[in-house]
Amino acid sequence: MKQAFLDLLICPHCLPGEYPLQASIQDSRQGDIITGSLSCPQCQKVYAIEEGVAFLAPQGKIPQATNRYEMPAVVASYLWSHYSDLLGEEMATDAYQRWAGLMRPSPGNCLDGGCAVGRFAFEMAKKFDLVVGLDNSVAFIRTARELMSKRRLDLALPEEGMLQRHVTLELPPDWPTFNLDFIVADAQALPFRSGTFAGLASLNMVDKLPKPLQHLSEINRLAKPRGAQFLFSDPFSWSTDVASATEWLGGSEAGPFAGRAQTNIIDLLEGRKGCLDPCWQVESHGPIWWKIRTHCNHYEMIRSCFIKASR
Ligand SMILES: C[S@@+](CC[C@H](N)C(=O)[O-])C[C@H]1O[C@@H](n2cnc3c(N)ncnc32)[C@H](O)[C@@H]1O
Repeated sequence: MKQAFLDLLICPHCLPGEYPLQASIQDSRQGDIITGSLSCPQCQKVYAIEEGVAFLAPQGKIPQATNRYEMPAVVASYLWSHYSDLLGEEMATDAYQRWAGLMRPSPGNCLDGGCAVGRFAFEMAKKFDLVVGLDNSVAFIRTARELMSKRRLDLALPEEGMLQRHVTLELPPDWPTFNLDFIVADAQALPFRSGTFAGLASLNMVDKLPKPLQHLSEINRLAKPRGAQFLFSDPFSWSTDVASATEWLGGSEAGPFAGRAQTNIIDLLEGRKGCLDPCWQVESHGPIWWKIRTHCNHYEMIRSCFIKASR
């Protein structure tokens, strides 16, 4: 974890209290802490930094086995989805360029919540001063950090059965990475001070969270009260495997979030549901088609509904 990001961090376990973390550095290279820890003076919790990866979920290191986003096949799928345009793939998706195009360049920090293997965060590093990609999948964060530090990655794309196609992904030379980092954390208990970010994104994650409203309220806490942009997008594939229906932000017939999630989230941001303050102005909304690849004959097309807001 790059030392430049230390000042932004607080203990996620002590939220809503905000206590800065103290770093203990065992090994660092050119400002990147490779081995060390971050400890909270309030609750005494210690968060590990191992092989450059900071583990900042409230419970510390997250058990990996239960998360489908840790599986090599899923990492390969997301690498294709995020970088297929750079690889010149025939079926490439331009979704991340389209999402990135909705954000204006701005001074300040930017957060990509649920960054997976990092494409949107790499795009934001061209537009903001400091950018953090955050995800609770260790495999995704390791992969994003490897691409960030080596600027290249060898990929094995599943073709058919056990057959794979080996390709090398190289970051374009003019993409900055000095101002970018990736951490493991929980999008429902974000380890950052209030009002720290001028840009925030939550792409295709809210329906994967047990507490979607808590995530949006965390985003709201982290955004600067004035001069902030928020890009939200989601296909709203609500499932009781992930969250009880009473937690969904849409897709049910009764309760405070009855009806369609896109309308409800616009109402929430614009202050008509009373829980996000100060409220946001929605600049635009609409669909972005996004594509995930399983193997060379199997792609999933997903209609992700974006909402771009500012305040
Ligand atoms: C459908 S993927 C979308 C990834 C990326 N934003 C994109 O649009 O390509 C959902 C992402 O949310 C992450 N995620 C799920 N639950 C999370 C949590 N509680 N905290 C942080 N990330 C989470 C997953 O690991 C995964 O990277």
